[in-house]
This record gives sequence, C-alpha cells and structure tokens, in this order.
Amino acid sequence: MQKVKKAIIPAAGLGTRFLPITKALPKPMLPVLDKPNIQYICEELSSVGVEEIIIVVSPGSDVIEKHFGPAEDLEKRLLSDGKTKLYEIERETQKFNVRFAVQKEANGLAGAILCAEEYVKDEPFALLLGDELMYAGEGDTPCIKRLVDIFEQTGKSVIATMEVFGDDVSKYGNFGIKSEKDGVFEINQLLEKPSVNEALSNYALIGRYVLCGEVMAKLKTLKPRNNEIYLTDVLDELAAKGELLAALFDGVRYDVGDKAGYIKANVAYALRSKEIGEDIKEYIKELARQL
Ligand code: G1P
Repeated sequence: MQKVKKAIIPAAGLGTRFLPITKALPKPMLPVLDKPNIQYICEELSSVGVEEIIIVVSPGSDVIEKHFGPAEDLEKRLLSDGKTKLYEIERETQKFNVRFAVQKEANGLAGAILCAEEYVKDEPFALLLGDELMYAGEGDTPCIKRLVDIFEQTGKSVIATMEVFGDDVSKYGNFGIKSEKDGVFEINQLLEKPSVNEALSNYALIGRYVLCGEVMAKLKTLKPRNNEIYLTDVLDELAAKGELLAALFDGVRYDVGDKAGYIKANVAYALRSKEIGEDIKEYIKELARQL
C-alpha cells in the first residue's frame, strides 16, 4: 500500500480580482476571520499523514514564508505579557512542514504542479487548490482525508466532486460515470469545462485531489496544446484505463478566489466563531430585517 507523504498547494495566482489589496499582499494571505486562507488548507492536511507541504507561490510572496516561520520577538513579548493563548495561536502557524516553490510563468495548474517536482519526484501526492476552502462540518472527515483513505485502500487516483446545477457545470472539470457506490464514482472520461450540452454528468471536480506518482512523470512528457499543458489530459488517460475515482464531498466549499465566495466564507466562519459568532448572528438578523 502506497502512503501519501507529499502535498502540493498551488497558490500562485496574482489575485488581480482583489486589487488593490493584492498589490502588496499575496492572495493566499487574505484573511478569513483571523487566519490567512492558506493556513486553513494546511490545517486540512493535518488530518492525514503528509510529511511535507509544497506551496507554489508567485515571485515576491516572501510574506507567506514569514507567516509560517519563527517570530522570536513577538513570542517573547506575548510570553512576558502572560498572553499564553495568543502565544499558542502564533506557534500553531509553525507546526507545518512547508516548503516553497516559485511559479515564474503563469502557465496554469499543470505548470504549478511541475514547479514542485523536485520535492515530489515520482511519489503520489495530495493536491489542494489554494483558492478553495472545504468545510466538512464539526468533527466530520476532512475532504482531503477521505481522498487519502480511498487512495491508500484502492491505489487509484481520486478527486473530490460535488453536484452542480444548470449552467454551473461549464465552470468545472466534469466526468462520465461508469459506476457509483457510497458516493465513490468510477470515472470513464473527463472533460474540462464542457458546455451544458456536452456535459457527461451533473458532477463538478473540485479542488482536492490525490494523484499517483505516474501523474508527475506524464505531465513532463505531455505535448502542449495552445502553448499550455493540461492536467486534465493526464487525468483523462487515467480515466480511460479505469484508474481514476471521484468521491462526493458533502460539506461546504468556499471559492475564496472570488469576491462573493470570499465574503461568504468570512460570514460563515465568523458565525461559527466562539468569540464573535453570537454578535455577528444578531447583526445579520438586524440587517436581514432591513433587506
Ligand atoms: C481547475 C480545474 C477544474 C476544476 C476547478 C475547481 O479549474 O482545472 O477541473 O473543476 O479547478 O475549482 P480552474 O478553476 O483553475 O480554472
């Protein structure tokens, strides 16, 4: 049984949709409540036995590295002021074994994965798209854990999926279903952002994957289409050989790369917060009365 020990988080987008804040602050550092969104993704990985997380960033993203690194002066200050809870919160950011790879060219998802090749080599890896937060529910199995469990049981690559409705199918990767059992689909074909008429099912691929080591090698040998190589081409090959699964995610997915999705994530996480949840709930009720 092959274990998943590496994870890649592509987080190199320039975040131009969030200008001007992303002029100086890299998009992965945008806060959801009090944490940068990239930290939630690292936390999701704490549920699995991943030993190394490779974050693929844009040039000039040193502040992300700083976030996950030591902060001696701040720590000393918090301790001498007796602020142990805050000290622990700060220390939490240092518990991840993170490495950084810089994606110099804007050459898509496959390009981002290849930036992490020197760390991953031919090992299987978890892939977590930096723009998506997955909330499984209090105490429920995190999205990536379900995928890692399935991969380690079956040896097959597996992608998270959600049902979508109407035109939304065209915004995502989509797949044809060979069979389904307990929310796990055997996939026989993959299409990237099909039109509504072309779509093979009502299911969308969402930003969590566990992929076999072969994927990295295949990406390297792939011929570019429109000057770009596509992860979908490799995944479609796996699907054709019956080596690709999809697992239904029944939690909530937040697209924090989109302004509305980002605000929704902040509202939802604020409502769940012990510290300010009640306050925000009252505020939302008051606002709703005026709508
Ligand atoms: C990528 C994948 C797509 C997937 C989507 C999920 O697309 O290529 O298959 O459905 O992420 O968010 P992107 O959103 O990067 O265009």
